[in-house]
Amino acid sequence: MEYYSIVLAAGKGTRMKSDLPKVIHEILGISMINLALNHLEDAGIFNHVLITGYKSEKVLENIISYNSSRRFVNVLQHEQLGTGHAVKIAKNELENKEGISIITYGDTPLVSGETLKKLIEIHKHDKNDLTILSSEFDNPFGYGRILRDKSTTLVMGIVEEKDANEKEKNIKEINSGVYCIDNKKLFQYIDEINNSNVQGEYYITDLVEIFKNKNLKINAIKVPHDEVFGVNDLSSLEKATRMLQKRINNKHMSKGIEIIDSATTYIGDDVKIGVGTKIFPNNVIMGKTEIGEYNSLLMGNNIENSTIGNHNQIGPMTHLRQDTRITDKTRVGNYVELKNVLLGKNSKVAHLTYLGDATVGEKVNIGCGVITANYDGKNKYKTVIGDNVFVGSNSNLIAPITVKKNTFIAAGSTVTEDIDQNKFVIGRSKIQIKEKKE
Ligand code: UD1
Ligand code: CA
Repeated sequence: MEYYSIVLAAGKGTRMKSDLPKVIHEILGISMINLALNHLEDAGIFNHVLITGYKSEKVLENIISYNSSRRFVNVLQHEQLGTGHAVKIAKNELENKEGISIITYGDTPLVSGETLKKLIEIHKHDKNDLTILSSEFDNPFGYGRILRDKSTTLVMGIVEEKDANEKEKNIKEINSGVYCIDNKKLFQYIDEINNSNVQGEYYITDLVEIFKNKNLKINAIKVPHDEVFGVNDLSSLEKATRMLQKRINNKHMSKGIEIIDSATTYIGDDVKIGVGTKIFPNNVIMGKTEIGEYNSLLMGNNIENSTIGNHNQIGPMTHLRQDTRITDKTRVGNYVELKNVLLGKNSKVAHLTYLGDATVGEKVNIGCGVITANYDGKNKYKTVIGDNVFVGSNSNLIAPITVKKNTFIAAGSTVTEDIDQNKFVIGRSKIQIKEKKE
């Protein structure tokens, strides 16, 4: 069986009050559109037809810069005439394909891969022609409502808020905008959707009634609230962030990662963490970061696109970024920033230090306040520090520079040239002591 997705992402998202297209707003460091595509891929769907419109090039750029190997076809929707129209223009790409399509909206990015898998399984098992993801909302305002047949309990239609009568408005079961559908039948009947409704739009939701009139089988499965939450403004973006934060943190805790304060711990969806690692409050861990086992992440770290091995102590207040690789049994301490650094085993960078573009060997001690001066205003240069080197406090290493193993750099030295192994280096002006003038 072949699987396809049609992802709707053409809208501007006026209520976001932003110049950016809605779907590139981020939840824990990943744009909504990339989250939606990740979840489809988690469910085994890799052929995407992406409908874009408003600032399409920005949306495509966002997707490619996150993952350049995704397979997708982009179809441009010049005018946003409604969700039904958006699906209709995928026709050229998909109409002859046998299989199942998942239609989903880019502004509903929290539907998990597991839920999508379950949706497909039930759709096949029950031999449905169309299966909708729905949910029970205490406050269903703004969402389309699911209309069920009283005797069969199957779905007969979806009515939009703006078109609903008072009785329909009281229905609490809402349409999430995620549909699992027989692909051939979708494109066989899609042209029957018209725009005679209050908003004058082509609604994809009208397909339900069309299918019903052809005696096709339609059902909806109810999933928890947080799976189908739609983002329409910045306040709902914040709510979606909290929902995903909780879900991600719970997943890590269930695998043996200790999180002291989930409310202040922000972990991106791509982050991997090993068992026994303990995370203190106020850690922000984003991007493609991998953290091994039995690390302590003390309070207040900001970690992006970096790798941490096992048995390290990081923080408080450490900033790791741009492909920094910490190996094992190191200590990286207070107010330390490491950018594109490889830190060898058993090394220490314990206080108030900036290392950038540096390779640091094993058992190295970097004293308090050390700086690699890696930038001359135009270019960046590399620093290489060998095993067992001691860099005394408040030293500056002016890159490009190599300091070979076992060398000792005395505190307060500014080192401007390469140093061979086993040397003692001191580079500070001799102090003068004079009598005080009265
Ligand atoms: C839609 C559903 C509603 C459901 C809700 C769930 C319809 C008619 N209504 O309403 O039943 O409860 O989502 O969140 O489908 N889009 C396009 N092209 C268009 C129109 C929309 O790509 O021409 C995209 C938007 O960018 C957005 C998504 O489709 O990502 C949903 O559109 P939106 O206008 O937000 O639909 P809702 O009014 O929320
Ligand atoms: Ca919406």
